[in-house]
Amino acid sequence: MDRKVILAIESSCDETSAAIVVNGREVLSNIIASQIDIHTKFGGVVPEVASRKHIEVINAVVEEALEKAGITINDIDAVAVTYGPGLVGALLVGLQYAKGLAYALNKPLIGVNHIEGHICANFIEHKSLEPPFVCLVVSGGHTFIVHMKDYGEFEVIGETRDDAAGEAYDKVARAIGLGYPGGPKIDKLSKEGNPEAINFPRANFHDDSLDFSFSGLKSAVLNYLNKMEMTSQEINKADVAASFQQAVIDVLTENVISTCKKRRVKKIAIAGGVASNSALRAQLTEESNKKGIEVLFPSPVLCTDNAAMIGSAAYFELIKGNISPMDLNAKPNLKLGER
Ligand code: KG4
Ligand code: ZN
Repeated sequence: MDRKVILAIESSCDETSAAIVVNGREVLSNIIASQIDIHTKFGGVVPEVASRKHIEVINAVVEEALEKAGITINDIDAVAVTYGPGLVGALLVGLQYAKGLAYALNKPLIGVNHIEGHICANFIEHKSLEPPFVCLVVSGGHTFIVHMKDYGEFEVIGETRDDAAGEAYDKVARAIGLGYPGGPKIDKLSKEGNPEAINFPRANFHDDSLDFSFSGLKSAVLNYLNKMEMTSQEINKADVAASFQQAVIDVLTENVISTCKKRRVKKIAIAGGVASNSALRAQLTEESNKKGIEVLFPSPVLCTDNAAMIGSAAYFELIKGNISPMDLNAKPNLKLGER
């Protein structure tokens, strides 16, 4: 098989990243410049600030990726870039940079869907993984259950009707004073709390759908905190964190296992920032294994935003001949499977 070296760029939110990926599975470098420290001051990502920071660092990040991989810009076969979904200004920085590079080098440009990238992180981690499998995508902006039938073929089975799972983590963390980003902090604090201390609601739809809803859960946590404050009762933050987390994990686990049953699939891969959650990994693995279902997850650095996952997704497009036009535009609301 032909060896294809892809330079991939990711700038859809608050990480500027560039990676060199060979044949979709071998990562020569994966440089990530995080803006978390800057956005922490504001309690969340400020889109204007994110775009400006991407512009400042993108060139250095790409140069570092090439240097670390031990190659030059002329050794690459294609330029891949996230073109949606995400913050439009942030996406445009990476997209314009990638287009300029592809044009100057006369190499193919491959626009990649950010969510497909998250799913493909699993191909890097698990070298022999092949579709079909069920993927649970849980990030700060998205919550999906996807049936990946073949490379580039995604069917959405369930999705959130309001907040994303990571968004709920971030909002609850802010409410109990843990700061941004809340996911890892709730994950850590929950280890000291009792997940059964408070019975927060698990949203269930009666129409047989495998969709999620997290805004009711978030409100229930806020109401609980208010009530405790009004009645001058002490709040055990670790118990709140653990009980909230348990409610999230219960519905994620239940719906993804139901999908496997419905679709007769025996393999689950998880993806996205929340996929690095230790309790989710443990519970999903335990419940699935009882039913003979295998669970795979990428290492934490491949769960959160990074360009290596974009390089992986791009490779499977490249070998199918899916090259993007030079007038490709950023699509902040790009849907899974949409071109
Ligand atoms: O995939 P990602 O880096 O960015 C998006 O595309 O959204 O995901 C970031 C999200 C944030 O909401 C963050 O709080 C959450 O992933 N997250 C976690 C953990 N690590 C990151 N949530 C729960 N537990 C974690 N360990
Ligand atoms: Zn992401």
